[in-house]
Amino acid sequence: MANIKFFTGMDIPLELHKVRMVQKLNLVPVERRLEAITEAGNNTFLLKNKDIFLDMLTDSGVNAMSDRQTAAMLVCDDSYAGSATFTRLEDKVHEIFGTNFFLPAHQGRACENILAVAFVKPGDVVPMNFHFTTTKAHITRQGGTVAELVTDEGIKTTSDDPFKGNIDLDKLRRFIAETGTERIPFMRIEAGTNLIGGQPLSLQNMHDACEICREHGIITVLDASLLQDNLYFIKTREAACRDMSIREITRRVADEFDIIYFSARKFGFARGGGIAMRDRRFFEHMRELVPMFEGFLTYGGMSVREMEAITVGLDETMDEDVISQGPIFIEFMARELQKRGVPIVTPAGGLGCHLNAREFLPHIDDHEYPAGALAAAVYLAGGVRGMERGTLSEQREPDGTEPIADVELLRLALPRRVFTMSQVLYAVDRITWLHENADLVGGLRWVEEPSSLRFFFGRLEATSDWQQKLVKKFREDFGESL
Ligand code: F0G
Repeated sequence: MANIKFFTGMDIPLELHKVRMVQKLNLVPVERRLEAITEAGNNTFLLKNKDIFLDMLTDSGVNAMSDRQTAAMLVCDDSYAGSATFTRLEDKVHEIFGTNFFLPAHQGRACENILAVAFVKPGDVVPMNFHFTTTKAHITRQGGTVAELVTDEGIKTTSDDPFKGNIDLDKLRRFIAETGTERIPFMRIEAGTNLIGGQPLSLQNMHDACEICREHGIITVLDASLLQDNLYFIKTREAACRDMSIREITRRVADEFDIIYFSARKFGFARGGGIAMRDRRFFEHMRELVPMFEGFLTYGGMSVREMEAITVGLDETMDEDVISQGPIFIEFMARELQKRGVPIVTPAGGLGCHLNAREFLPHIDDHEYPAGALAAAVYLAGGVRGMERGTLSEQREPDGTEPIADVELLRLALPRRVFTMSQVLYAVDRITWLHENADLVGGLRWVEEPSSLRFFFGRLEATSDWQQKLVKKFREDFGESL
């Protein structure tokens, strides 16, 4: 990675790119923010962009693209079948992963649908380090369940373990012995993890887990959607990989797995997805599902423009200076919040900075959704949109009981190369103010609760008039400021 020291010893992230296209932002007054979050049913997914200042909902499909990506979009081949654009993407995937077969899909969850339909049958259990919302939904839709085998350290919000996303190898061995291989359609590794704070896995752990599966003839699947940040963490945190290039690390990771799928909304800096593999049998087993659910085999629901952008984006992902930008800005934000006493997930991971809502709002019961309440409060405090990653993002059991999430987090995603340091510091400032006034924040309760993926479209209300009180305090403390 570029080694650039500051004479004065300042330790701040430095952009290794310049900005050549911008979008104007709007910061609406706190009174309008209260109306907007009420109209959105206290669900940040339902806010409209016109009311949002810093959109830290996700890094999915909203990373800044490079000049080379934008240029490539103009020279695409739009043939329905046999498009040269698809061949370029396919070749790039095989070049970086060392695979032989590629199935395109319109995004990550479409790959999950194909995998679940092709491999999961009722009664099956899929072991994984940690679930992701759409992954679990597709597996349960086929009558399967998931078994989360992340190390105990993984769900501790405060830790100095550099690889909190690791799967626990003893738990995996025990799980296989107890479940029996017939009911295990595949093992899934999510590298890095999403719901536990963007925490990475080590290359060694992936190797060991896949080795155990190979001994038992269990298929291994890598969800590489968040691999970009994980590659950087392997390079910087895993001693054995310090002298390896990002390309070499990528190949070493890919060589462990039978099947690799990814959301190109994250991995590839554009919008799309796909499934790569070396074995023709898997390709033939899943192939027919692509024209059935996605589109023909040479586009899979993606626009040719996006495929060109992904091809270049994957190539740029092999550049350490490019992929370091996410983690170094996230670490900066985490450090600034920590300095001001705000509880966050440590160590800082990929994807975004994660606030620990249970510690931020200790007076709110888990059944009143601390992370959901914090999401609404952070929006009120600064027009900053984050995403609840806790109990609200879970699904009720068939008998109606509510599984309480292991961690209650508010994720503030940092889409790559989108926000500047002063914007990050603005968010830190407003969150610090909110933390000092945390006792004003109350809980949420459902007004409309969908039975599946409720966090996407459900509506909630405040359990008291805490939001009005928070707005009043904002006016007292900030005067006329937006
Ligand atoms: N796997 C992981 C690890 C993800 O983070 C995501 C998406 C998916 C699969 C599904 O991919 O969105 O292209 O269908 N995560 C997004 C997020 C939604 O905001 O974290 P998709």
